[in-house]
Amino acid sequence: MDHALIVYANQPGATIEPDIYGHFSEHLGRCIYGGLWVGEDSSIPNIRGYRADVVEALKKIRIPNLRWPGGCFADEYHWKDGIGPRSDRKRMVNTHWGGVVEDNSFGTHEFMDLCELLGCKAYVNGNLGSGTVQEMQEWVEYMTFDGDSPMSRLRAANGREKPWSLPYFGVGNENWGCGGNMTAAHYADRYRNYQTYVRGFGKNKPVKIACGPSVADYEWTETLMREAGKFMDGLSLHHYSLQGSWDEKGPAAGFDEAGWFSLLKNAWRMEELIENHSRIMDKYDREGRVALIVDEWGTWHAVESGTNPGFLYQQNTLRDALVAGITLNIFNNHATRVKMANLAQVANVLQSPVLTEGDRMVLTPTWHVFDLYKEHQGATALDVGLATREYRTDPSARGIPELTASASRSPAGTVTVTVTNANPRESARLELSISGWNPSSAQGAVLTAKEMNALNDFDSPETVTPVSLSLPPLENGRLTVALPAKSVASISFR
Ligand code: AHR
Repeated sequence: MDHALIVYANQPGATIEPDIYGHFSEHLGRCIYGGLWVGEDSSIPNIRGYRADVVEALKKIRIPNLRWPGGCFADEYHWKDGIGPRSDRKRMVNTHWGGVVEDNSFGTHEFMDLCELLGCKAYVNGNLGSGTVQEMQEWVEYMTFDGDSPMSRLRAANGREKPWSLPYFGVGNENWGCGGNMTAAHYADRYRNYQTYVRGFGKNKPVKIACGPSVADYEWTETLMREAGKFMDGLSLHHYSLQGSWDEKGPAAGFDEAGWFSLLKNAWRMEELIENHSRIMDKYDREGRVALIVDEWGTWHAVESGTNPGFLYQQNTLRDALVAGITLNIFNNHATRVKMANLAQVANVLQSPVLTEGDRMVLTPTWHVFDLYKEHQGATALDVGLATREYRTDPSARGIPELTASASRSPAGTVTVTVTNANPRESARLELSISGWNPSSAQGAVLTAKEMNALNDFDSPETVTPVSLSLPPLENGRLTVALPAKSVASISFR
């Protein structure tokens, strides 16, 4: 059977917030140190201490925002340890991640300046688990107060006169787990208290983000929305895709088709999670004021052998690219409620768009998906009607849609359609039609490879890179395209 996709090009729709294409950087393994930051004295080419290659790679995919300093690390981070002369900064133990010494050489100034260098928004995650209300209040004052105050004076003494822009502030992270093991009711009360002191100084009014549920914890969402919904602008959601179990995760690269399928099935679950959590949010927030913010998503595999298990370093294959393509299509299709998302994590940790080793950097298949999808950022989401079949490995078990798709119309009028084909064995014949508009040209690119576990490594960095997608001439806004097996494609209509 063929697959059919109709894109309704002339209808109004929600804006696909660029922030849906956001990233996450935690003091974990080699994400910050070695991934983003090498210091001014490093022999690795850098811009004021930031890796030049990584900065360029992130700018190319138009990184819209970056979350920091965690994750679990956020709830044991005391920001005053990370300001002032680097040689005087307090050394601490990173208890969550490998028990290594954290010398705090990357702190508030280094993070906020990085966001300015990248041209992206800062998303700072505060410490509710082990920090005080005063500490959180002072941090926001330090970063954003434009006037004479104890914290703005301290900031100036540390070399930054002007306040930074702080569009997003998270009030705790995973407070149901590593952020304090709280019940939903207890966290809701504490959230109400802490957020009171997250002040909006001058023009800077941070979007306040409450810790949301883990995966399918609908009770958490219900309690938070009921008890604290009116005090928040965003509620976070975390969902990682695994092959296997938390105790026994599958390998990043050495998998068979069953492993391919089970990971993609886990990723596809994002659709159901967003729909179910949104339904609860709708009950308490009919106007859709509170955004659902998926500030941790991506694949979580077993670490690469020989690496520190606490560093979460994993390879990234075409399978990870499929997870990215499927998930971003889901986000685009739920752009009315999902306003921001952050892939975990930006370098050398979990599903990274870039991997580094010494002075070398590699763009992963996941980076290429962000590149293929970047025209969706800030565009209007278009409704799509997709008829596809199920892909499954076990005839007695439920499958997942073989194809997924999303579409958008940019302010300049370009319609971008992104499609994934999860079937690793068969290409898909897709009849694609644009309704309500007659484009004059179409151009496409596709990411695929011979093997489903193909990856880019330091010695062969271009094994998985996009190639042009061959398209027949358009006939009244219609064309039939052959989507290769195991692929992610982007087609632009003008
Ligand atoms: O991204 C790694 C960890 O996953 C984060 O620190 C935590 O929030 C989540 O459990």
